[in-house]
Amino acid sequence: MKSFFFLLLAGSVRLSSTERGYFWHLTDLHLDPNYTVTSDPRKVCPSAGDQLVTDAGQWGNYLCDSPRVLINSSIYAMKSILPKPDFILWTGDDTPHVPNEQLGEEAVLEIIKWLTNLIQQIFPTTKVYSALGNHDFHPKSQLPPHNNSIYYRISEFWSPWLKNESVISFQKGAYYSEELKDVGAAGRMIVLNTNLYYDSNSLTANMKDPGDQFQWLEEQLNNAYLKGEKVYIVGHVPPGYFEKKRDKPWFREEFNKRFIEIIQKHHGVIQGQFFGHHHTDSFKMFYSESGTPISSMFIAPGVTPWKTTLPGVENGANNPGIRVVEYDRQNLQVFDIVTYYLNLTYANKVSPRWEKEYRLTEAFQVPDCSAQSMHSVLRKIADDSCYLQKYYEYNSVSYDLEACNKSCRADHVCAIREVDFNKYKECIKTESSSIRHTFKIIVLFIAMSVYLFTFDL
Ligand SMILES: *[C@@H]1O[C@H](CO)[C@@H](O)[C@H](O)[C@H]1NC(C)=O
Ligand SMILES: *[C@@H]1O[C@H](CO)[C@@H](O)[C@H](O)[C@H]1NC(C)=O
Ligand SMILES: *[C@@H]1O[C@H](CO)[C@@H](O)[C@H](O)[C@H]1NC(C)=O
Ligand SMILES: *[C@@H]1O[C@H](CO)[C@@H](O)[C@H](O)[C@H]1NC(C)=O
Ligand SMILES: *[C@@H]1O[C@H](CO)[C@@H](O)[C@H](O)[C@H]1NC(C)=O
Ligand SMILES: *[C@@H]1O[C@H](CO)[C@@H](O)[C@H](O)[C@H]1NC(C)=O
Ligand SMILES: [Zn+2]
Ligand SMILES: [Zn+2]
Repeated sequence: MKSFFFLLLAGSVRLSSTERGYFWHLTDLHLDPNYTVTSDPRKVCPSAGDQLVTDAGQWGNYLCDSPRVLINSSIYAMKSILPKPDFILWTGDDTPHVPNEQLGEEAVLEIIKWLTNLIQQIFPTTKVYSALGNHDFHPKSQLPPHNNSIYYRISEFWSPWLKNESVISFQKGAYYSEELKDVGAAGRMIVLNTNLYYDSNSLTANMKDPGDQFQWLEEQLNNAYLKGEKVYIVGHVPPGYFEKKRDKPWFREEFNKRFIEIIQKHHGVIQGQFFGHHHTDSFKMFYSESGTPISSMFIAPGVTPWKTTLPGVENGANNPGIRVVEYDRQNLQVFDIVTYYLNLTYANKVSPRWEKEYRLTEAFQVPDCSAQSMHSVLRKIADDSCYLQKYYEYNSVSYDLEACNKSCRADHVCAIREVDFNKYKECIKTESSSIRHTFKIIVLFIAMSVYLFTFDL
């Protein structure tokens, strides 16, 4: 009898307090199966293209995609840092940056299968919510809005992680949603195939709602509202702009608009959005029409160190990164994000050491990772050059430690603040002209005049 009451008490205490849960976010592994440590600078890795790789190390090179040992090391690092996460988010891009002719459908599937097996072997009982990246298809980025042999085969690889209805849903359009009950949390995970909105995807160019995914997403969010459920939204290609290259969005404009409208309409149930594709560490803000912060999207850094060949990006490599998200199991509020990384230079010189890079609330002095808090992180980055520089170094996972100057500041601040195309362009205009500075000086001048005037009386 006594123990019965004790259990009852323990149960109610457990329900009424917040319960901190933990999950991993892993993205952009980009395996280069042909990475070789050799002194011939043309033979190190196909993913370097024509660039010469002169200092190939065992753990990888900044010009190359990931060797197998680097990926193996990253998953083992996860296992040793946090062996029992509630679940893992894996947001895609598994194959190397090489021309389509060097890959083919079978090679793409082989790589996805190898990574799936590796994760399953190291985390045999952990639930994985997995999204497809634009590189998880042949030809790359051409993901169709309907069933096809690649979605079908991948749904088989991932079936140990998926509910049967998710397998069916995945086969149709590579998106699905599941209750989080089984992993001990209250709410829902919504995994999207945003590759359908990517402007490089020619298959969906003239469609209004490819794969009916927008309609489905709205149904999911409406149902969540009716059930009092909170959700996370997960995907690979994010809306909005790339922070390392001015005027570089990923979505087609109409899709970008629709995505923002959906977030604005349903933000009440959305507790966080988790995306990849950039390979950098950043975030994006969503605001209501009246300017209140309503949602944040967290962009996780990639495991691949590969220096992007996107024209206009200077020195766009990164150290391999992985991250733990701390959240409230009762309502999916995001408490904190801790990013871990491998200093690739150090790994090749000495040994592969995965270490903590930073804890978000500590680094930016905010109470949690709510939309309100992320808005104040953005304000600190925009207004304080020390915070800007800190953010900038984390952005490349402590690879690029150069000073972020005025035009760099505008690129990053505007990509974080404005997901909408027109608002981004306006932001760039304001932030890169000297108006902002002049305005500050005027405000300071008025403040001083008022101060002096007051004391004169
Ligand atoms: C993978 O990493 C683990 C842990 O560092 C190591 O014991 C194992 O030998 C590695 N396996 C391969 C194939 O690299
Ligand atoms: C790796 O090497 C094999 C054998 O030379 C080749 O057929 C394949 O296309 C290469 N793969 C990549 C991704 O470069
Ligand atoms: C799910 O599908 C598998 C394989 O198709 C089948 O064996 C299993 O019974 C199904 N489970 C449920 C709960 O329907
Ligand atoms: C998708 O296509 C495969 C054959 O390629 C078929 O076996 C499967 O049932 C289809 N799935 C759905 C949901 O239509
Ligand atoms: C990475 O390691 C190299 C070599 O030990 C070192 O020079 C560099 O400062 C390290 N980078 C960071 C961010 O600690
Ligand atoms: C800022 O830095 C970038 C890259 O280091 C450089 O190309 C650019 O000219 C600099 N811009 C200004 C305004 O100093
Ligand atoms: Zn990628
Ligand atoms: Zn991508």
